[in-house]
Amino acid sequence: MDADALIERVLERSVATGEVPGAPPLLGRAIRHAVFPGGARVRPKLCVAVTAACGEGRGIEAALGAGAALELMHCASLVHDDLPAFDGADTRRGKPSVHAAFSEAIAVLAGDALIVMAFDTLLRESRSAPHLLSPLMTILIGAVGTPHGIVAGQAWESEHTIDLSAYHQAKTGALFVAASMSGAAAAGLDPAPWRALGERLGEAYQVADDLRDVLLGEDELGKPAGQDASHLRPNAVQHFGVAGAIARLKGLIADASDAVPDCSGAPVLREIVHGQASRLMPKSLLRNVA
Ligand code: IPE
Ligand code: IPE
Ligand code: MG
Ligand code: MG
Repeated sequence: MDADALIERVLERSVATGEVPGAPPLLGRAIRHAVFPGGARVRPKLCVAVTAACGEGRGIEAALGAGAALELMHCASLVHDDLPAFDGADTRRGKPSVHAAFSEAIAVLAGDALIVMAFDTLLRESRSAPHLLSPLMTILIGAVGTPHGIVAGQAWESEHTIDLSAYHQAKTGALFVAASMSGAAAAGLDPAPWRALGERLGEAYQVADDLRDVLLGEDELGKPAGQDASHLRPNAVQHFGVAGAIARLKGLIADASDAVPDCSGAPVLREIVHGQASRLMPKSLLRNVA
């Protein structure tokens, strides 16, 4: 089974825990709706790719657990982000968002349950390597809570003055940093040298998302377009122009590639990072630039 299929299998195991007899059925269905079918699964893929690159064959099981936990946190953040209290988005991944399909009450609870499910996933999937649980849990908590996790990132939108770099690092960067660092920790290595890779990729992802938001339509995005302008949010295209934002995205991908620490799988990992550049800049996006 390849890594992508293994990630889906761990996610399936987790989601199924909310569908057992006696569980509230609507909540179980809403959680499944939020997780399957997935988007790019970029965070768990990064986590597993880092372990494969630096682990000399060790740690893949723990990396799958940590990556799936990060993906569940990401799905939770999207469910809450789409609520009327935040972005009021009625579509996500090409289908109705969770509150549009089920109700606001169920969407709040599905997000809550997914957060708890993420911790449970990490706990369950680290059983065969309990010494990794504490470092992996520390990384996960840092990526999600306050002061620097996704909760803090979303909270910046409610402040009168936004610290732009703290906002982007927390909202988008934190889960990429956690993915990269968890991959190293799962391999039994010091995660600190892997922070920079996650930071650069997170920034690149933010710029790519900003470009998509401006240039693509809802059909291609699978979620509402022009969200940044309608919510008066900072956007890289507004700051740098389209060509400038594309140049910045390319520069960040090159920086991310340079940030891969030395290890036996570094050349493969650098190829994966460069592969992200073409994925993040689809042809349709470049067509729109002309
Ligand atoms: C969307 O993340 C939110 C951002 C942080 C930009 P993704 O683009 O990774 O969403 P999915 O999981 O692939 O749908
Ligand atoms: C979503 O951010 C990221 C989090 C919830 C942490 P955005 O609101 O910018 O992303 P999309 O456009 O809805 O995917
Ligand atoms: Mg938002
Ligand atoms: Mg949003």
